[in-house]
Amino acid sequence: MPCQSSEELKELVEEAKKHTPNGRVASYIPALGKANPNDLSIAIYYPDGRCISAGNVEQEITLQSISKVISLALALKDRGPDCVFKRVGMEPTGDPFNSIAKLETMAPAKPLNPMINAGALVVTHMIKGDSVEERFERLLSFIREMANDPSIGYSEEVARSEFETANLNRALCYFLKEHRVINENVEQLMDLYTKQCAIEMNCLALARIGLVIGMDGVDPQTGEQVLPKDIARICKTFMVTCGMYNASGEFAIKIGIPAKSGVSGGIMGAVPGRFGIGIFGPALDERGNSIAGIKLLEMLSNNYKLSMF
Ligand code: DON
Repeated sequence: MPCQSSEELKELVEEAKKHTPNGRVASYIPALGKANPNDLSIAIYYPDGRCISAGNVEQEITLQSISKVISLALALKDRGPDCVFKRVGMEPTGDPFNSIAKLETMAPAKPLNPMINAGALVVTHMIKGDSVEERFERLLSFIREMANDPSIGYSEEVARSEFETANLNRALCYFLKEHRVINENVEQLMDLYTKQCAIEMNCLALARIGLVIGMDGVDPQTGEQVLPKDIARICKTFMVTCGMYNASGEFAIKIGIPAKSGVSGGIMGAVPGRFGIGIFGPALDERGNSIAGIKLLEMLSNNYKLSMF
């Protein structure tokens, strides 16, 4: 079923776009700096296969931190919650996503949650496979299955751009290695992590993954349980408590749905039992979330009573 462009969504997008001049495109990964700050698009995927959209929803974007939800799901499938949560915590942090500050104050050294970079690096480290290639392929197949899109791949340019500049993430890895939270070669883990962040898809695919998570891991079109129910529950909970970084509390109050953002300007939303949302708006606020994307979600949540709370 093709995605229908929606006049109602188009009006909301035009309204939310007024906020893009107050945001900035991420440039600490040089390749992301090429994005057009005025872009804003949204797709909504329903369980019956209907899809509505506004803006250029065919445009491919890299997942960046949105990938952290999916790598967590795969690591949980691979190792089970006991093993994963021995190495990474479950608590939100009021710190920026790439902060190293709390790591040093925690004993034993254990990242506070899997949505901050330190925690996500530990999670990616736990994805099973004999090589970076095999681990990446397993992650990619899992993502393709949830999105129902076998064509999903990654941007070599964005992966390389981050790999060449990721000194802070390397510092986090070396700290974690020193404290034996990870035990692999840091360059190898950075190779896998930067490829994971550079996985590319359009807003339709993003919305479909959000839908599967929101439907407790069931693909509503095939009826298949692609993600175990308990893992979908853990993912949704982290999306609520930590998905929008140090803006998660405000987001829960104003919008109230499980969501995950990335510095490319993507937001994946999972409205439990109702629909999945994919947004792309690369102008970011000071906490690294799409500035117009959040405004758009705020309007949607108010208009359609989306808050879970
Ligand atoms: O690790 C990084 O810095 C990026 N690849 C991902 C960060 C990110 O998307 C944080 N999002 N708000």
